[in-house]
Amino acid sequence: MEKKEQLYEGKAKKVYATEDPSLVIVSYKDDATAFNGLKKGTIAGKGVINNKMSNFLMQILEKEGVKTHFVEELSDRDTLVKKVKILPLEVIIRNISAGSFAKHYGVAEGIVFAEPTIEFSYKNDELGDPLLNEYHALALGIATKEEIALVKSMAFKINEVLKAYFKKLNVTLVDFKIEFGKTVDGEIVLADEISPDTCRFWDSTTGEKLDKDRFRRDLGGVEDAYQEMMRRLMGN
Ligand code: TMP
Ligand code: ASP
Repeated sequence: MEKKEQLYEGKAKKVYATEDPSLVIVSYKDDATAFNGLKKGTIAGKGVINNKMSNFLMQILEKEGVKTHFVEELSDRDTLVKKVKILPLEVIIRNISAGSFAKHYGVAEGIVFAEPTIEFSYKNDELGDPLLNEYHALALGIATKEEIALVKSMAFKINEVLKAYFKKLNVTLVDFKIEFGKTVDGEIVLADEISPDTCRFWDSTTGEKLDKDRFRRDLGGVEDAYQEMMRRLMGN
């Protein structure tokens, strides 16, 4: 399958049409942004790592019964996926306090929750991705009640599968953001990516951060952290 015209360029990926109207090709870039695009940079090799890691994790999820957009990895940076209409809803699951949760509620990072939390934000860069609840999402016509219920149950299932998988690699899955889309057949599937850009990964022994927080917080060793996650997950 070959790339035809570019349909979209986001902060970290480009999307191309293919000859099949139900399929598109995503192409991962090394560009990194944070704080709604205010901070910009490059993480060398990130596009390759995020492409391979996301595909690897989506295939694990598929085996566990989670429907995803993944079809076929085409090259280091390019993957064939089902064409979807992305629900403008960022779904965030947290197992441990960190980031905006710690900030909003004035608590330390690292508090292990008895139960995972879920929150939604409205995917809208101009508005700065404001938080919203299910009723707001319904009111705005972002999704139906049934779709929101499905997205919630899929998100918690994804958390259980990934948490257990990363635990075996001595990695603690602190939190993550996922996005869902609707295929041309009307099916809701996990879309976008699962990578160190969109998850917080802490080494379970040392607590070392192995994700994009190294870039967001200028901690150094950004490329090494991405490489280390890739090595633990895929052995290279
Ligand atoms: P937060 O603590 O900043 O709200 O982030 C929660 C999780 O969501 C964290 O794993 C990073 C991820 N995330 C994204 O993937 N994209 C974003 O735009 C933001 C704000 C967070
Ligand atoms: N990628 C997001 C942005 O550019 C934020 C983040 O991941 O921190 O705003």
